Amino acid sequence: MKKHLALLGLGTIGQAVFNELLATIAPDWQLDWVVVKHLKRHLGLPLPTTTRLTTDWHRAVNDPQVDVVIELIGGTTVAKKIVTTALQLGKQVITANKDLIATSGNELSRLAHDNGGALAYEAAVAGGIPIIRTIQESLAPDHITGISGILNGTSNYILTAIQNQGLTYQAALKQAQINGYAEANPTKDLNGIDASYKLIILVRLIFRSRLTLQQLSPQGIDQLSPRIFNVANHFQRQIKLVAQAQMVNGTLYAGVYPLALTPTHPLAQVNGVTNAITVDSDLVGSSTYLGPGAGGPATANSVLADLQAFIRNDYHHNNPCLPAAHFASPLNQPHAYLIAG
Ligand code: HSE
Repeated sequence: MKKHLALLGLGTIGQAVFNELLATIAPDWQLDWVVVKHLKRHLGLPLPTTTRLTTDWHRAVNDPQVDVVIELIGGTTVAKKIVTTALQLGKQVITANKDLIATSGNELSRLAHDNGGALAYEAAVAGGIPIIRTIQESLAPDHITGISGILNGTSNYILTAIQNQGLTYQAALKQAQINGYAEANPTKDLNGIDASYKLIILVRLIFRSRLTLQQLSPQGIDQLSPRIFNVANHFQRQIKLVAQAQMVNGTLYAGVYPLALTPTHPLAQVNGVTNAITVDSDLVGSSTYLGPGAGGPATANSVLADLQAFIRNDYHHNNPCLPAAHFASPLNQPHAYLIAG
């Protein structure tokens, strides 16, 4: 059956999704609505004849024809209203919004479950790496004991540019923004919150536990002084923003912090916008997933993979999570930058 789509947001990811939808001849979907913030900016948009452009999300989301709402506006205020409304109407929702899924993923998944809809968010974690599907499907028979990785493309891009190319922090950030990796406001990329939200989402899926930003109390790369880089360089260490979570005897150890890794550490050579996630599990052992963690086209693929799963009627993952786990921070000191890898 043909799916009728509403696409909300034409930022970096929204535009890439729109381009791909336009370039694909597909009999099984139809783009009915594109919702934007400023109509004037998009008047020249090459819209299919069946597509309407509006600034009024209510019209698109409440349209009884619309089956799938693709929320790519970001933030947690209007985006939450949009996703909630769509799920209450029993629609299928795709989002790349890690802030929203990390903070309200439980209630929204429950809403999807209770109303016969669906909530998919492959694009919310690690951009183009299909890590959500890997955890939900490929590793479903396994028992995952821990994960460790680089979950923010912007900060890894900046760290690589500073340490390998000698760029300044500001010049590297500007380059990440030009490339479309950073958020509109890059603060959360730099202070560790973006990576933390992604870790919270993965922890929820893997350990069925609630983890909060307050518990994680993340450190980002914004506090790293030039001196830290000099010291790391002197000891031949590579500074990376690492996100880790491990379940040990019912206690969840999790954290997000910059670590100075030895050159042989598997994450030390993960450069640029690349994200990496190492999953430790009983059956597979250690498996690592690498790929672009940000950027329009790579993230658009994740959005469209969710759409294809809906079209195939192959998405069954609205699991509300279980209560919070007993939590402990793996670090007993606030600035453990120079930990051996
Ligand atoms: N700003 C994010 C990053 C985009 O740099 O990783 C992908 O979530």
